[in-house]
Amino acid sequence: MLNKPVELYRDTLRIIDQSRLPDLMRYEYIYTLSEGVKAISELKVRGAPLIAIFASYLVAMLAIRSKERNFKRLKNRLLKAIDKIENTRPTAVNLFKAMREMRDVIQKAEDREHLIKDLREKAEELDRKESMNCEKIAEYGLSLFEKGKKYRIMTICNTGYFATNHIGTALGIIYKLHEKGMLERVYVPETRPLLQGARLTMWELSQNSVPAVLITDNATGFVIEKEKIDAIIVGADRIAKNGDTANKIGTLNLAILANHFDIPFYVAAPFTSVDVNISSGLEIPIEKRSEDEVKWVRKCLITKEDARALNYAFDVTPNFLISGIITDRGIFRKPYNLT
Ligand code: MRU
Repeated sequence: MLNKPVELYRDTLRIIDQSRLPDLMRYEYIYTLSEGVKAISELKVRGAPLIAIFASYLVAMLAIRSKERNFKRLKNRLLKAIDKIENTRPTAVNLFKAMREMRDVIQKAEDREHLIKDLREKAEELDRKESMNCEKIAEYGLSLFEKGKKYRIMTICNTGYFATNHIGTALGIIYKLHEKGMLERVYVPETRPLLQGARLTMWELSQNSVPAVLITDNATGFVIEKEKIDAIIVGADRIAKNGDTANKIGTLNLAILANHFDIPFYVAAPFTSVDVNISSGLEIPIEKRSEDEVKWVRKCLITKEDARALNYAFDVTPNFLISGIITDRGIFRKPYNLT
């Protein structure tokens, strides 16, 4: 496996800068709140569970590094830092859940020493829990497939190591299928505009010797039919109580295609991606990102400079298109009622 995309060493937070992969495998060291906020906003760290893990370590690191000696002021500074961190990416609910836990720790702490210790321990606990969640999702996911058969699976974006710090959600299931000799091949759409499929998923699958093939996003329909794809497995950024699921833009297209070709369409996500406070996908805030991300591919302008572009980072798949939601608490089926 690769080195961890996010790790806290003493008072320094180290990340793999995912925005530069695969051409540049570079560590970046985060020392301040603004560097941390930038890392999330610019997708140097990304993927719903990893954003939450990184944000938790960031809060712990800010407490460790703070020179503020007044305990009350230190607490207030950290609470304000959390407000800023929460203002980065609105769709994945994992970030907000983790920040709620970090806020609780700050509010309960009685002195500086305990505050620092408890924040670090909470961040480590959240990281460890996501590791266990990934393992459980992979086991439940595996149970959906018949032993002795070999499967052709399509996915989207990156839901593996780079999105979770651990084996991943949808990709965790794919790793497990490969480990058991049940995987023929993974089909990876490039995932425009930021190419998480091409840049990250292809890279991590090749590092782990998993057979994978890259396709363009607009090839998905034809490839499903021509290559006889057996199932589609995707991740999630926020799942409403009724099963409606926000995930990387393009996921809805895959769900519609899966329905058309009558193959299973699974969502794989930890329960930390479930928002029990919202009843349907209509309430999920969808991040809209810069037009430039669509107009430029890496450093190349692919349209007229003054062209307008529309860049929704996520879409919402309605529950009726989802064959099952694979979580660390088991597999949920229609009609969904995630509580
Ligand atoms: O914009 P990103 O790269 O953060 O989007 C990531 C996704 O949409 C993933 O599918 C999702 O976060 C699940 S990661 C286990």
